[in-house]
Amino acid sequence: MKKILVTGSLGQIGVELINYLRDLYGENSVFATDVSDKELAKIKSDGPFEILDVRDGKAFDHIVSSFRPDTIFHLAGILSANAEKLPQKAWDINMNGLFNALEIARNYETSLFFPSSIAAFGPGSPSDNTPQDCMQRPSTIYGISKVAGELLCDYYHSKYELDTRGVRFPGLISHEALPGGGTTDYAVHIYYDALTKKKYTSFIASATYMDMMYMPDALNAMVKLMEADPSRLVHRNCFNITAMSFSPDDVAKEIQKYIPDFVLDYDVDPVRQSIAESWPNSIDPSCAVEEWGFSPAYDLEAMTIDMLEKVALKTKVQEEA
Ligand code: NAD
Ligand code: SER
Repeated sequence: MKKILVTGSLGQIGVELINYLRDLYGENSVFATDVSDKELAKIKSDGPFEILDVRDGKAFDHIVSSFRPDTIFHLAGILSANAEKLPQKAWDINMNGLFNALEIARNYETSLFFPSSIAAFGPGSPSDNTPQDCMQRPSTIYGISKVAGELLCDYYHSKYELDTRGVRFPGLISHEALPGGGTTDYAVHIYYDALTKKKYTSFIASATYMDMMYMPDALNAMVKLMEADPSRLVHRNCFNITAMSFSPDDVAKEIQKYIPDFVLDYDVDPVRQSIAESWPNSIDPSCAVEEWGFSPAYDLEAMTIDMLEKVALKTKVQEEA
């Protein structure tokens, strides 16, 4: 990769990906875009940024025709819980945005990264150690858009030889930007509330297991996959990746090692709980390991130590400001 364009770059993944890519490839080699600029201060501001609604194919084309990236990271999208509130809008952004990204990637011969999700599996998929290739019949509009996106990306690869690659992200945990309306968001909020209130009320039930990953491992995986030797890739869209599987009860116990008086209670949200129950307990990332060397560094213990340290610093700075 030499020149990279990122859509939806001011969200939970984007703000960290932009800074990570600008450190690796140079500030001016990474073009950031988003539908709004309200989180612009969170990215290295010396590099290029423009407002872009990914549904606007003309504006999308205009930016790509002048910047001429070799790779597009297409992050713009609506996450699972927000998508259930506005299914028509979520479908419009998730599908028409991706279709524009694919057409533009085809016209300008760029590689395309597409972020799918554990949501691409459904109640009929095996729940434990869910294989790379198995039945995918999700019951959420978000999951349906992810499966359709995976298929569309594979179609563009086989029909037009477009270099499309992607991963099925688990819930991502990070401390730079808050998550954008997903089912796994509790696993971020719990660290903030543990430090500021010593108490968290979870909207996900105590014994519900979902796959998770710390953001540094997600950033590393995105770059590793896009830099991988294409001749090794048997799969493309999209690879199962995960670093850990835990329940709210497990994170609470880990946090209590450092904040012994932390209390977790529950007020389960039926919508997000039913989404969580339709997803796997744990997925099998072995194809990503074999085909491009996926190797996450953080487990629950290492991530908790780092999250508590980083969120403590952040909340202290905010209190002092
Ligand atoms: P986010 O909600 O934090 O950020 C998405 C960004 O897209 C936001 O900045 C938003 O302004 C932007 N956006 C929304 N509509 C847009 C439009 N019409 N045009 C351009 N930009 C638009 O989400 P995220 O967590 O950063 O996720 C990025 C991608 O990764 C999404 O496709 C998501 O489904 C996928 N993903 C995320 C996770 C996770 O845990 N964060 C897990 C699996 C998959
Ligand atoms: N974290 C995402 C969500 O909960 C998974 O795709 O929507």
